[in-house]
Parts: sequence; structure tokens; C-alpha cells
Amino acid sequence: MARAPRLRRIAWLTDSGGLRYHWRALRHRDQAWRPFRDAVAGWLAAWQPPCERLVLVGPSAGHTLPIERMHHFAEIIALEPDALARRWLSRRARGRPLRFERIDVLRGTAPLRPLAEAFPDAAILFCNVLGQVRPPGGGRWHGPLADQLVGRHWASYHDVVSTTVRPRAGAAARAFADDPLETVLAHFWPGGELALIDHETFRLAGPGHAADYALWQLTPAHTHLIEWVVHQPPA
Ligand SMILES: C[S@@+](CC[C@H](N)C(=O)[O-])C[C@H]1O[C@@H](n2cnc3c(N)ncnc32)[C@H](O)[C@@H]1O
Repeated sequence: MARAPRLRRIAWLTDSGGLRYHWRALRHRDQAWRPFRDAVAGWLAAWQPPCERLVLVGPSAGHTLPIERMHHFAEIIALEPDALARRWLSRRARGRPLRFERIDVLRGTAPLRPLAEAFPDAAILFCNVLGQVRPPGGGRWHGPLADQLVGRHWASYHDVVSTTVRPRAGAAARAFADDPLETVLAHFWPGGELALIDHETFRLAGPGHAADYALWQLTPAHTHLIEWVVHQPPA
């Protein structure tokens, strides 16, 4: 078994974790983030993997994760490097069977393998982390997911693109079958040039899988397109 690295302390002032992220959550969670939080809640309510244990990777403080409604699991294990987020998540979990472990499953020579080895019977939920943390050595997460977690129930919501271009007013969350990214973008943004950051996570469960999409209005000026995918082991 490969020895897994330990979670490192996070930098306090990054956009995806730490104090800046918590500050944004406090400002926007109840209003601007509400449609996105509702989309995540709907995705999670429909995801019922046949597992008693759930591993959350990068849940932060659960600002967008309805952990208080996750009744389906007998045990929830969270892998989260941010100490403040861990304390806050515990409060939000309100009696749910939550505990924390310190292995870092996103680093090391074989990323994600420690996740498969340490929790062989658990379902896995990547909580908006795979679009923000790159695999060690670069590249995309598609390969490690296909190699290490093919036999597992896993799901992920993650950034696909982010931009300062305003989306169409009222562009609703929806599923797309096997359409290219351009088609998905055309649903959420009006035509013309779209300057964006590509987080290189489009179709993370692989081609041929349907995926859901919703907008996350992170700040009034920053919009993220989020993808939700569910993977089941082959029959
Ligand atoms: C955008 S935040 C997740 C947001 C979260 N889903 C919520 O509801 O607020 C990304 C999280 O990934 C965590 N993270 C960063 N590197 C990580 C790693 N190697 N393993 C697990 N979590 C990590 C960060 O600390 C941060 O809390």
C-alpha cells in the first residue's frame, strides 16, 4: 500500500479556502449563493449510493454542502486541511456521525490511490475541490479517477470554467447528455467572445455520461460554471 501524504496546513488567504473563502461565504451564502446551494442540495438528494460510509474530500465548512440533511450514511469521514473549516463543519453536522482524517489523497505519486485503499467500502464525494486543486505534476483528474476509482461509487461537483463575463439572466441549472462544452456555455452565456479560465474538469466522469450544470455566483463579479457527475462501478 502506498504511504499517503498528510494534509498540509492551508494558506489562509486563497480564494478556494481559508479566511477569504469563509468571508465570501458569510457575505453571499444566504443570497447570491442560494440558487447554487439549492442545485447542490437537489443533486445530493438524488444521489443514494449503496454504501454505509461516505468520504467527503474538501468540504470546507459545508458552506454549499447540506451536511445536516445527509441522513443516508452511518459514518461520514471528511478530509479537509482547513482547521477553521473543520470546526465549523462539525457544528453544521449537528449530530451526524462525522469524523476527520488527515491523509491527503490529492497529492503523492499516485493521487487518489490512498483514497481507494484507505476507505475500500465507502462512497466518495469530491466537494468542489477537483477544479481548484491540480493533480501533482499537472494534467487533469480524468486519468486518476478512471484508474483508481473505476470500481467505486463516487460523485463530484467542481468548477469547469470561471469568468467575469455576466451570464444570461435566469439561466437555469440543467443536465446535458453528451454535448460539447461550447453547447453548455451557450446555455449559460450570451453569444460572442467569452474570456474564461478553464479548470480542465469538463466531463470528469468520462465521455458518454450525462452531467448536470449550474452557475455559482461566487461574487457579484465572478461566476463559476459547476458540473455535477455521478460514477457507478460497472455492473
Ligand atoms: C472551494 S472549497 C470547497 C467548498 C465547499 N464544498 C463548501 O461547501 O463550501 C475547496 C476546499 O478544498 C480544500 N482542499 C484543498 N486542498 C485539499 C486537499 N489536498 N485535500 C482535501 N481538501 C483540500 C480547501 O481547504 C477548501 O476547503
